[in-house]
Amino acid sequence: MLEAISRSATKILATAGAVGQVDALCSFASIAGRNRYVRASLSDAAEIVIEDGRHPVIEAIASERFIPNNTEIVRDGNGIQIITGPNMGGKSTYLRQVALIVLLNQAGSFVPAASARLGIFDRIFTRVGASDQLARGESTFMVEMHETANILHNATDRSLVVLDEVGRGTATFDGLSLAWAIIEYLHDHPTRSGITLFATHYHEVTDLAKTKSRVANFNVAVKEWNDQIIFLRKVVPGAADKSYGIQVAKLAGIPSSVIDRAREILATLERKERDLVEETRGHAPSHQLSLFDSRERDVIDALRILQPEAMTPIQALNELQRLKEKLEK
Ligand SMILES: Nc1ncnc2c1ncn2[C@@H]1O[C@H](COP(=O)(O)OP(=O)(O)OP(=O)(O)O)[C@@H](O)[C@H]1O
Ligand SMILES: [Mg+2]
Repeated sequence: MLEAISRSATKILATAGAVGQVDALCSFASIAGRNRYVRASLSDAAEIVIEDGRHPVIEAIASERFIPNNTEIVRDGNGIQIITGPNMGGKSTYLRQVALIVLLNQAGSFVPAASARLGIFDRIFTRVGASDQLARGESTFMVEMHETANILHNATDRSLVVLDEVGRGTATFDGLSLAWAIIEYLHDHPTRSGITLFATHYHEVTDLAKTKSRVANFNVAVKEWNDQIIFLRKVVPGAADKSYGIQVAKLAGIPSSVIDRAREILATLERKERDLVEETRGHAPSHQLSLFDSRERDVIDALRILQPEAMTPIQALNELQRLKEKLEK
């Protein structure tokens, strides 16, 4: 019997292949019909234009109603999009949604959107999520960098590159510097600058849009209300300025004493950063400002709120003397 089967092996395999193909196409058709997918029109350009795109898995399983988003990326115009916004805002979902729509289209399926015009990509490169390979001797950050290195070596200008928070696995300044340099590389490289989506909490990198013509900023909208945040899930043009990490931690049930302490630390860090910025801009002579000297801090704070116009000359003189003594203590 085995002999008989092996004589017909080619035919059996061809039939199995054909049945598999019909099965896949029927699945595409039934999912497309059930979930209101549409046929994308194909474009010769390196572009992704999607109206009301959705994430096929999240929309099927999420308890809240899925909010669709538009996408308009043309490689030579705004081909590198930096997406900022709060934790839990929907950045990763949006990135994967765009990649999945491109993937489904190239696999021959309809796509979850109201309409779409899609270029053809030679590869979809992704660097998303955080995982390690301890058994293979790779830490979380090492895996992240390995995957990113592979992308930077192999992407072409017809590739779609999706990078989700690359650089977050290390110290802030190292991570930020890496994120910045990676975006510059993908922007400037003569043959590796395909369409790139880059989600990040390093808001500093949004400055790249000022100097790099193909870099555009987008953010996931959020509304603040009574110290609460409402996630709007809409991707809108422009850069975000906050991550709302502490509010999201509170939502997740971190003890309130930890949240309050984190708020205090954040306020101190933000004040230091503001001063550092002022210092580097030359608003304050640097020898007056030591970030870690609380006496100097107090004197500067006192000067800030001082109202000379409301003081008599003798009061002003006394205050000056008091501040000087404070510094010399
Ligand atoms: N467009 C959307 N409509 C409805 N729900 C959404 C949408 N986008 C995201 N969500 C929900 O919000 C959750 C968080 O989204 P996501 O992980 O994309 O946020 P994020 O911005 O990447 O957050 P983080 O900065 O913490 O990584 C998702 O698990 C999903 O349930
Ligand atoms: Mg995310």
